[in-house]
Parts: sequence; structure tokens; C-alpha cells
Amino acid sequence: MKNFKSAKRAGNNLAADSAMVVLNENFKYFGYGYFDNVHDAIPPIKATFYSFRIMVGLGMWFILLFIVMLTILLRKGLDKKRWLLYAGVLSIPLAYLASEMGWLVAEFGRQPWVIQDLMPTSAAVSHLTTGSVQLTFALFAITFTILLIADIKILSKQIKLGFKEGGAK
Ligand code: HEM
Repeated sequence: MKNFKSAKRAGNNLAADSAMVVLNENFKYFGYGYFDNVHDAIPPIKATFYSFRIMVGLGMWFILLFIVMLTILLRKGLDKKRWLLYAGVLSIPLAYLASEMGWLVAEFGRQPWVIQDLMPTSAAVSHLTTGSVQLTFALFAITFTILLIADIKILSKQIKLGFKEGGAK
């Protein structure tokens, strides 16, 4: 591409055409031209490996928990198995953890590419300033914290009002 550009600038169409042929022939490896070192093409193995296993492990746990719960439910004994009910409630945050782990798998695993073999992440970094990222982050954090507080207040109020047979109060 460098040869193509300089040939074009110099007005040498013949050289530009032959540079374009070389470029087209090698286009599927285009992204590798950004790397100085062959090791730059390797994703973070450890992070991908462990986050994948945590995600799948949790997935297996959810399947097992579901089967045990369903079996006991069908035998009409679920309300007597306090340990199982606790296991169910304590597993709720694990679903979020599994999602985060899955996201890490996808993000770490695709490094160093935003477009496989064509565009590495380093070439895709936006020109936003650190300040504007910090500002947007702060605005989101403040907005969602306010929403969380409002949510907790509304839910607590409803819970205190209690349940009424025949419909909500
Ligand atoms: C049961 C075993 C599971 C297997 C075999 C599995 C497999 C995978 C694979 C292969 C990926 C990478 C996809 C890719 O980017 O190419 C992935 C991503 C992901 N997984 Fe799992 N997963 C499992 C359980 C779970 C569970 C239980 C959750 C959440 C409750 C979860 C949430 C996610 C999320 C959020 C992603 C990222 C998706 C994305 O951003 O593209 N996974 N999973």
C-alpha cells in the first residue's frame, strides 16, 4: 500500500498498478502488516482459558441445579428443602458472573483483531480524549445510580405495603 501511494503521488501509474496487484494478492494478510512482532498476533491465552472454564462450569451448575429443582418440585417436596432454595437464591448472582465471563471470553479471545486478519485493535482505537470518556462514564454512573436508588425505594415501598389477595393494592 505504501508503494502504491508513493507511486500514485509520483504519477507513475505503471508502478502503482503493479503495487496494487501485490496488495490484492496479499490482502487477506493485510492486518499483519501492523505488527512488529509475531507474538502480537496471540490473544491473552490465560484470561480466555479461565474465563471460558468459569462460564461453562457455571453453565453446568445451572443445568444441574435446574434438574435437581425440577425433580424435587415434581415430587412436591421443594418447600421442605431449605438448602436447595438457598442454593437457588445464592445462584442468582452467578448468572451475572457467567455473563461477564462470557463477555471476557469473547473480548479476550478475539484479540488482537477487530476484523480478523485485516484490522487489529491497535488500529481501531478512536480519537476520543480520555477526558470525554471519563465524563461519559461519570454521567452514566450517576444516572444509573440514581435509577438504582429510585428502584430500591419503589420496590421496598411495595414490599412494605404487602400482598393483597385478589390483586395489587
Ligand atoms: C453451558 C455451557 C456454555 C458454553 C459451552 C458456552 C459457550 C460460549 C462460547 C463458545 C462463547 C464465545 C462466543 C464467541 O464470541 O465466539 C460464549 C460467549 C458468551 N457466553 Fe457462554 N457458554 C456457556 C454458558 C454460559 C452461561 C451460563 C452464560 C450466562 C449466564 C453465558 C454467557 C455468555 C456471554 C454473555 C458471552 C459473550 C457473547 C458475546 O459478547 O459475543 N455462557 N459462550
